[in-house]
Amino acid sequence: MAGPAVVVAVDGPVAAGKGTLARRLAGHFGLAYLDTGTLYRAVGLKLLIQGADPEDPALALAAARAIGAGDLSAPALRDEATGMAASKIAAMPQVRAALLDYQRRFAAAPPAGGRGAVLDGRDIGTIVCPHAQAKLFVTARPEVRAHRRYRELVARSRAAGTAGAQVSEAEVLADLLLRDAGDRERIVAPLTPAADAYLLDTSDLDIEGAFAAARAFVESKL
Ligand code: C5P
Repeated sequence: MAGPAVVVAVDGPVAAGKGTLARRLAGHFGLAYLDTGTLYRAVGLKLLIQGADPEDPALALAAARAIGAGDLSAPALRDEATGMAASKIAAMPQVRAALLDYQRRFAAAPPAGGRGAVLDGRDIGTIVCPHAQAKLFVTARPEVRAHRRYRELVARSRAAGTAGAQVSEAEVLADLLLRDAGDRERIVAPLTPAADAYLLDTSDLDIEGAFAAARAFVESKL
């Protein structure tokens, strides 16, 4: 009989490169992948589309309870405004509780009967999957992260046929610092490395270098 599912937790602040790393780790080790930020973004987007206040806990909870797989692929999920709304609703304990089950079920029973999963987010190693076999905490200096996110926004708007990024790099940095502060200072599930997490600073690494370090760590744990 198969043993318990393998879980790899990848946490870190905005635009540290954790999504890219988590996706590649999942591919390399044959594991399913869940970007848990998408769940919070989907709740934020639902409220923005309704024209509702993202700071209203009752509306946010109702939106969180209504989230399904069909809400997790809208292109607008990646917008800065959606990220800011996500950060606000992510500070609400009832919203976090409502999204916890989905994440734990994914980790325990990955889709398509896979042998395990990689989850990325802010609190995977500390709250969602504290028994994960391998935990990574991915960081980079704020300026480096803002630059990467800005380049991503420019590329995305070019691909969509619009003139360029809708925001400046300085605005991206300001948003990122605001979101970091909110994620770190909130009372419930604040962004912090698990005691047994491997700290990976990707500021001076390219994707290949960061992936090689992450893969070696996960290999040592599985
Ligand atoms: O990672 P991403 O930027 O997509 O996450 C959007 C927001 O969702 C974050 O700023 C954070 O506030 C929240 N989040 C969270 N816990 C997670 C994943 C995301 O609080 N596990």
